[in-house]
Amino acid sequence: MKYFLDSAKIDEIKYALDNWGINGVTSNPKHIKTSGKSFYSVVKEFAEEFKDIDFPISVEINPHIANAKEMVAAAKEIAKISPNFVIKIPCTEQGLIATKVLVEAGIKVNVTLVFTTSQALQVGRIGAAYCSPFIGWQESSGVDCELLVSDIMQIYRNYDFTTEVIVAALRNAKQIVDAARFGAFIVTAGFDVYKNSFEHPFTEKGLKIFQDAWDDTDLGTL
Ligand code: E4P
Repeated sequence: MKYFLDSAKIDEIKYALDNWGINGVTSNPKHIKTSGKSFYSVVKEFAEEFKDIDFPISVEINPHIANAKEMVAAAKEIAKISPNFVIKIPCTEQGLIATKVLVEAGIKVNVTLVFTTSQALQVGRIGAAYCSPFIGWQESSGVDCELLVSDIMQIYRNYDFTTEVIVAALRNAKQIVDAARFGAFIVTAGFDVYKNSFEHPFTEKGLKIFQDAWDDTDLGTL
């Protein structure tokens, strides 16, 4: 399973790429705002910093654009900046119309803000590169998304859809593991979610026990 980082902060993306081997990035307007930089400066950094590697970076179009024709124009403008760029289009009817046009033009689209299996089904039918069901938002409000993810994966397998599912907006390690259990191709989460998923208090406790034992042991000579 691939790990994408949900971020627009170049430093943490580079850290996660170099040290954790993340496979791509999913940014959104909120992440770009959090980075403290302008939209186009982040976009240019994305293009420049990772130009020598095959590294999918999702960049979202202006979310105020509501009609398919303007979405297509906005997507094409961003897509031409870097071959790594995947254009995030919202899962509205107009967004799906735009996605179909962009797919036919050879542009990679990540359909975002997917909340139901029926939305994901249409994303797969029209052959978008990625489909991003948002899990964390729903589970934070008490909705169990296991059935949503397993249904989407089963349906995509039934029809051999080429679209890759990104189980998105994950908030904890359990949600990463659930996605893996159902055979999701990709998960995306923030920096701290991954970092926490690599750690456990018992690992720290066990390490302390072994350190104490080491300190009390005569090492002898080699
Ligand atoms: C995914 O592609 C989205 O950018 C992301 O997961 C949005 O959710 P969050 O920023 O609330 O985690």
